[in-house]
Amino acid sequence: MCGIVAAAADKNIVPILVEGLKKLEYRGYDSAGLAVIGADRIERVRSVGRVAELESASADTASPTGIAHTRWATHGVPSERNAHPHVSGSIAVVHNGIIENYESLRSELTAQGYVFTSDTDTETIAHLVDQLLKSDRDLFRAVQAACRRLVGAYAIAVIDHSQPGRVIVSREGSPLLLGLGDDGNYAASDASALLQVTRKMVYLENGDIAELSRDGVRIERLDGTPVERPVHVSELSAAAVELGNFRHYMQKEIFEQPEALANTLEIVGGSKTIQPGIFGAEAATLLNDVDHILILACGTSAHSGMTARYWLEAVAGVPCTVEIASEYRYRTSVPNPRQLIVAISQSGETADTLAALRHAKSLGQTKTLAICNVPESAIVRESALRFITRAGPEIGVASTKAFTTQLAALFLLTLVVAKVRGQLGADQESAYIDQLRHLPVAVNKVLTLEDEITVWARRFADKQHALFLGRGRHYPIALEGALKLKEISYIHAEAYPAGELKHGPLALVDANMPVISVAPADDLLEKLKSNLQEVRARGGELYVFADADSEIPESEGVHMLRLPEHYGLLSPILHVIPLQLLSYHAALVKGTDVDKPRNLAKSVTVE
Ligand code: G6P
Repeated sequence: MCGIVAAAADKNIVPILVEGLKKLEYRGYDSAGLAVIGADRIERVRSVGRVAELESASADTASPTGIAHTRWATHGVPSERNAHPHVSGSIAVVHNGIIENYESLRSELTAQGYVFTSDTDTETIAHLVDQLLKSDRDLFRAVQAACRRLVGAYAIAVIDHSQPGRVIVSREGSPLLLGLGDDGNYAASDASALLQVTRKMVYLENGDIAELSRDGVRIERLDGTPVERPVHVSELSAAAVELGNFRHYMQKEIFEQPEALANTLEIVGGSKTIQPGIFGAEAATLLNDVDHILILACGTSAHSGMTARYWLEAVAGVPCTVEIASEYRYRTSVPNPRQLIVAISQSGETADTLAALRHAKSLGQTKTLAICNVPESAIVRESALRFITRAGPEIGVASTKAFTTQLAALFLLTLVVAKVRGQLGADQESAYIDQLRHLPVAVNKVLTLEDEITVWARRFADKQHALFLGRGRHYPIALEGALKLKEISYIHAEAYPAGELKHGPLALVDANMPVISVAPADDLLEKLKSNLQEVRARGGELYVFADADSEIPESEGVHMLRLPEHYGLLSPILHVIPLQLLSYHAALVKGTDVDKPRNLAKSVTVE
């Protein structure tokens, strides 16, 4: 995951930038860079490799104002030309996230004579700010105007050689906070980078822009309205992962999903196509004659696999089976050497998933792929191919951002397999990639429903049971919603494919059984609506998560929340978010230990 550190102080800040980057190393990266305001120009140092190399390379650089960055490009050779900061005229920029409209901006700026020297979307921001500075020399105004033109998820930091002593930062979707020091002011992706200089932190909100100078900070919204944000005094040790503004890690991790998705999808960059190589150098050869996919996983990871089955069969036309790892490892199965074994695991250390992978290999099935959040884990080491999700550390036992990033990875796998099998036209591929790229923004919009979901959570926190319904690719999302609720609120919850309702669970439905339904406008919506009628007719109270296009009227006993967008095949990624929030807020009302629910462990490394 990319990391940003920025500083405006009354002393040389290069050692602070470097130390800050070291603290962000845990996020993973493959190149690093910094830029400072030098005597007669921007001085930039970039290096492919470790921050320690950047440290040596910048040993002779000194300045009171600068920005720094770690970048993790997982596709192609990480190169110096793609490393941040990116420079245009007298300004330099570092950036985390994805700029969705970068192609149109790039064409516009190229037509104006700007020459691009990297493949990144970030360079667009540098040229855009430079261009806007021509009409208004004030860096703050220029960055503000530039941000108003950006579509996507980002955190940025900008310096201008002609305006020394100033750093402008802004965020939308990716994290960024300010650190208020005695001898200067700072910004970074997370607090751990700044504990070396201060404990006074200010968390920026989406749409905030801030100026740091040696003497202070000021914050505005992108429309120019000044705002104040509270100062938090961090009590954490430098080694801990910061909770920031949030009450629990689970809440923090739910809200980190736009960034986690943007980071995971960074592998696609600005491209209109994706290559098998994102799963490893041998992927093209290995996937070539795959005739079946077997997904092995536990818990939430199994639910991501179950969702992916709908994608893999519908888009890639490849048969797919999903099996709980603890079952597969012990049953007598029929091996198929042309089968791709996909092990999905947040931790990469889950004992049953690892054993199932080893069991599959022992049966002569060598085409193996790990989808995992921990690069150095056993499951990754023991698989032929790998895709590392970039969710960042997940502390809450109930998995949230690991799940949605797994889904993003599995959709990429679907596209790659479809391509290898000749099932994906170029237009369709590029349309799917655009949809993926928009995900961080779409998820941000869903997160704005938190207050309404809190009201719902209060309503059924005193219930003993809850039933979750979904159909098609949203059935696994109903399963995940039920799992989240039972894990952290201890309310007994079950999920059913809605068509199964009348084959048993309908007997349980009465006024004390809230029924939560995932109801996007897909081709099964009409059938789902009939199932919902069946619930209503038995006095069951319905809580329906519809989307912008679902036509379901609200009526007595039918509560409805609409997700802001309709998201087609990728809709499961959006629909799980309100279910995560619902469980979280129900657990808050019940006063349970949200991040460490009783009897459960984060990483189940024993059978
Ligand atoms: C535990 C965790 C779950 C997780 C499951 C699988 O039960 O509490 O959140 O989904 O293990 O873990 P993995 O690391 O393999 O995804």
